[in-house]
Amino acid sequence: MTDPALDARQIAEAVAAVRAHTDLVPRLALVLGSGLGALADEVEDAVTLSTADVPHYPVSTVEGHAGRLVLGPLAGTPVLVIQGRIHGYEGHDARALGFPVRLAKALGARGLVLTNAAGGINPAFGPGTLMLITDHLNLSFQNPLAGPVGEGEVRFPDLSNPYDETWRVEARNIAITQKIPYREGVYVWTSGPSYETPAEIRFFARAGADAVGMSTVPEALQAAALGLPVLGISTITNPAAGLDPAPLDHADVLDVGRQVRDRLAAWVRGIVAETSP
Ligand code: HPA
Repeated sequence: MTDPALDARQIAEAVAAVRAHTDLVPRLALVLGSGLGALADEVEDAVTLSTADVPHYPVSTVEGHAGRLVLGPLAGTPVLVIQGRIHGYEGHDARALGFPVRLAKALGARGLVLTNAAGGINPAFGPGTLMLITDHLNLSFQNPLAGPVGEGEVRFPDLSNPYDETWRVEARNIAITQKIPYREGVYVWTSGPSYETPAEIRFFARAGADAVGMSTVPEALQAAALGLPVLGISTITNPAAGLDPAPLDHADVLDVGRQVRDRLAAWVRGIVAETSP
């Protein structure tokens, strides 16, 4: 993607494809990570589209099946749920990773909730921990904003508040009220698909990271360029490499995600119902 006019036209065509199914204007967009997709089932009167039916939506090349967009009210708030996110390790260039966020903004979203599965680097964050993301480290050295400035984007976005502080305070209060245990920490983005080495994890720990994963940061960067507030929640699914004798296995990641999804869903429902960036 090198031509901003073409980019804007592609987003307009994608918006038109969604609008052919629903005129719902989402207040919030939610991106659901590995094993965390069940929340989409709670959207009421849901209008569901395959991303394969949305022109220019990047196609998942590895998993071989498209993602879904689910639109409708969740806990009284109109939302767009993006289920089956795209990752850099599937072969997409960095710019493509921002496409879902550009689409969400063009559909009217005013805030973005990002969830993911992550490895725990902080030894106090065991499997099943929910971690409110306070900040990130971009150690993939990729950026979806590289290239011409897209429509409505800032050339040099400020990242001093990448995970909106005011929104985080509200999320914290909801967790406390609902008695949902949570931690807070810094997320580091690695491009994957291989998991990290123990030496990399020691390096990330010294750099101040609490959790590691292969997503979320590109979407947060795209949102920053569009002025869209972001809230991020990691589900810690495994101790990061070298912190536990067991080898890392994607099946365990999905399994832990499923175990904590009710708690995560309750928290996200509360956030969707009660907060408004
Ligand atoms: N590393 C990177 N990504 C992950 C991990 C991990 O340990 N667990 C879940 N996603």
